Amino acid sequence: MSEPLLVLRPVEQDDVSRVAELHRRAFGDSAWSAKTLLRELESPRVSIIYLLEFGDDLLSMFGCWHVLEDLYLATIAVEPRLQRRGLGELTLLTVLRLAQRLSVDILRLDLRVSNDAALALYRKHGFQREGTRRNLYAHPLEDGAQMRRDIPGEPIAFTVPKRVAAAWSPCLDLCWRHGPPETWSAANADPAV
Ligand SMILES: CC(C)(COP(=O)(O)OP(=O)(O)OC[C@H]1O[C@@H](n2cnc3c(N)ncnc32)[C@H](O)[C@@H]1OP(=O)(O)O)[C@@H](O)C(=O)NCCC(=O)NCCS
Repeated sequence: MSEPLLVLRPVEQDDVSRVAELHRRAFGDSAWSAKTLLRELESPRVSIIYLLEFGDDLLSMFGCWHVLEDLYLATIAVEPRLQRRGLGELTLLTVLRLAQRLSVDILRLDLRVSNDAALALYRKHGFQREGTRRNLYAHPLEDGAQMRRDIPGEPIAFTVPKRVAAAWSPCLDLCWRHGPPETWSAANADPAV
């Protein structure tokens, strides 16, 4: 039997229940429901949702909104039992690659001001704080930190983080919704576009 692959691919209708389950485990009461995910899938021009899987295991997901020149990272989640092993970092790198493929200049996002894990992840990958949105979040009521990251036109050195390569696979196949697929490896510093 062949080895499972680490794959990034668009979320399809058949994936919705397990993606919603992952999201619920990661976000609790403020998770996107299956209904919300289905509604997002109905607007494919704006809403872009991907998952990362290894064989039958769903590892992470992200959802973005693409409006004109802007890409907004609406959500990103790693399966809780697999957190702190580099998957958040790898998933965020794929979002940066998506931004580059869509030729946007800036990637924006908001997060709860208390979300230290996500804040550290974004800072590690070049995001800067732009401001604060008062009472952006409910249950519990909380301010949002606005963050942005400039997207360079020239290639970023996209690779699979070493700890992901060691635990899962040194190669990631990226099956983009638009345009040709690509493969990243742990060793190769240049993206195979
Ligand atoms: C935020 C999240 C995506 C990070 O995923 P992850 O796989 O655990 O993160 P990684 O292992 O790739 O960590 C990458 C970096 O993020 C930061 N980080 C991740 N978890 C952290 C934690 N618990 N505390 C502090 N920093 C943390 C660190 O800078 C880390 O780098 P390091 O390991 O070199 O210190 C994950 O915690 C998650 O899904 N949380 C629930 C959903 C959520 O809050 N999403 C973001 C909403 S905007």
